[in-house]
Amino acid sequence: MFRNLKLRARFTVIMLIVYVLSLPVMIVGSYYILKKNAVREILEESNLMLAAMEGARKYTNDVLRPAVTKELPDKFIIEAMSATFVAKGIEKRIREKLPNYSFKEATLNPLNLVYKADDFESKKIEDFRTGKLTKEWRGYKHTDAGSFYVVMRPVVVQSGCLRCHGDPSLAPPEVRERYGTTHGYGWKVGEIQTANSVYVPADVPIENARKALVLFSIIYSLFFFAVMVIIDRVIIGSIIKPIEQFVDAADEISRGRFEREFTVKTNDEIKTLAEAFTRMKLSLAKAMDIMRRK
Ligand code: HEC
Repeated sequence: MFRNLKLRARFTVIMLIVYVLSLPVMIVGSYYILKKNAVREILEESNLMLAAMEGARKYTNDVLRPAVTKELPDKFIIEAMSATFVAKGIEKRIREKLPNYSFKEATLNPLNLVYKADDFESKKIEDFRTGKLTKEWRGYKHTDAGSFYVVMRPVVVQSGCLRCHGDPSLAPPEVRERYGTTHGYGWKVGEIQTANSVYVPADVPIENARKALVLFSIIYSLFFFAVMVIIDRVIIGSIIKPIEQFVDAADEISRGRFEREFTVKTNDEIKTLAEAFTRMKLSLAKAMDIMRRK
């Protein structure tokens, strides 16, 4: 069937086969690269968010609290001295600009119930407690609000923490007043109560990768069809047209019109063929001449 096709049609069919075979390769290859980039972007964002939050905590512990304590040694001003409170306050303001990013000091038994670990977080904290997980957990969490990339790091309770998280009767009055005495106390030194958890949206970069893939496929297809049209024009101009002229000239010469020339503009196989035919034509003309004279 393929052999019965005209030259142009044959080229078109070959190009279409190449297109159909190469498109999946292009799509799979691009998808792999785009997905990898999207995941890298998500990782970088989570690291950034985590660094910002840990930075806020550290700044409060290292700078803010000592400075306030120096001025007011007997007071515990939660807004300026609790690293958790400061980090949460900064996070809240980040969320005003980037609502899908969040940081939570997910805790099994918190003073402030906004930090209460949900089922997912509790499970991970349990895994940190039993040693099934160590240093860090990273992974995806799928919720009704979309998918998130999560980084969780366990926090070990130290003896200094017990001043506020240990026996409620010993806690600063400011703490008891604000959070009550029923929850958030009784922590033990060395245990893991908390996993500092960063959530960054995972849907957007993946969705962007998908959009880029569609765009790539369209550009690739347009490019391919442009090449097909160009090749088709080239085949017509440099092979089919010259052959048609050639056939026309050969036809006339075969009917005895020896003055007809083979005109070839290109310098390729067709030109060689034309030269061979021209020699044959001259020989034929000479032979006919000799025969006629006899
Ligand atoms: C001087 C008191 C004080 C000390 C000491 C203290 N915290 Fe807290 N902690 C607080 C207060 C107050 C909150 C509630 C902050 C809020 O409402 O945002 C809190 C909240 C937390 C939370 C969030 C969960 C919850 O209970 O609300 C974690 C986690 C936490 N602290 C960890 C620690 C660790 C770990 C240490 C020791 C390294 C520590 N804290 C020492 C006062 C303290």
